[in-house]
Amino acid sequence: MRRYWLPVCTSEQLPKPDCDPLRIRLLGERFVAFRDTSGRPGLLEEYCMHRRASLALGRVEDNGIRCLYHGWKFGVDGTIQETPNHCDERFRKRFKAPAFPVREAGGMVWAYIGPADKQPPFQKYEFFDGPAENRLVFRINRPANYLQLFEGGTDSSHVGILHCNLANPGWKTKPEHVPDTSDYASVALAVDDNAPDIEIEHTEYGYHYAAKRTGPRSENGTETNSVRVTAVILPTCRIIPLTRYQFFVFEVPQDDVRTSTYVVAHGPQSFDRKKMRGVLGLDNERLWSEKDCEYRVSEENLFGQRSLEDEYGLVGLKRARAGRREHRCLNGADRRAAQGDAGGSRRRGGSLAASPARVGAPSRGGTGSFRT
Ligand code: FES
Ligand SMILES: [Fe+2]
Repeated sequence: MRRYWLPVCTSEQLPKPDCDPLRIRLLGERFVAFRDTSGRPGLLEEYCMHRRASLALGRVEDNGIRCLYHGWKFGVDGTIQETPNHCDERFRKRFKAPAFPVREAGGMVWAYIGPADKQPPFQKYEFFDGPAENRLVFRINRPANYLQLFEGGTDSSHVGILHCNLANPGWKTKPEHVPDTSDYASVALAVDDNAPDIEIEHTEYGYHYAAKRTGPRSENGTETNSVRVTAVILPTCRIIPLTRYQFFVFEVPQDDVRTSTYVVAHGPQSFDRKKMRGVLGLDNERLWSEKDCEYRVSEENLFGQRSLEDEYGLVGLKRARAGRREHRCLNGADRRAAQGDAGGSRRRGGSLAASPARVGAPSRGGTGSFRT
């Protein structure tokens, strides 16, 4: 993993020259990022090479970061610029602080923390180019293991269900499909088929797959298909297609149990950040803020689902009638009934972020099963 260029923070998190340094957790190790007086971003090991004070507490000034303990000052390349408690210049010239190659592109700061002789070329993504207003970058620090996020996010079969308001907007209001054709709720997946066939092709960068779904009959009665192609660029990136723009998603491990997810929306038009926060479910300040990018979800707050209930209605799911491909969200009465019958039929498979008791509960006049 360390043999790749990895995102370490957004450009916004180092908003101006000499701003406060930022503590970084990456691959189980601790670093500090800062932007020097000339605007250059740098990444050093968090703990000062002198007596291990945290440089995240340091001061950024005069093109370097100064440790608050004995005032040693380091440049973005690790050069020791000053050692106030050690006057002999020859001393500091003998050493260098552990510093790592850093690039800034696409509204993100990237670093390489692998062996110097194995450093790969810096990669290029489409969103690096073009006007900055056609790109939005979000960082979401999540209490989850990297692989679960990477694998779960890559599996297409959750998309039309978990993200039904965005991806399959007619789902709740069957039989009439009411696609939302606004720029933000792009309808790349506005079909009823939630059990895609997946075809995978291996590539040099990892793989890409086509998720094939049956679409509605066209006016002349012929069958239509939805084919959604997703690129999976190992080890962190996937490119999610929508009709009007794309999401580039990077899952970057902080450690075994925490992951920084970077979501980049990029397209031919400019975006409204507030609206996009709504699309991504980041508009509840209690659960996520631009300030620290921490996603405050847990089992205790039901992963934010209950508080978002009014907005999304996605508290539980049921299949209304066996044999018919009809889905709808539980209304209040259904939900109460379902919660009162937690011992009923159980969830089969799937990875929905709702409790098993609700998801699999029997509904009026139907079975409790669904497919993924
Ligand atoms: S610990 Fe940083 S200068 Fe001494
Ligand atoms: Fe998803």
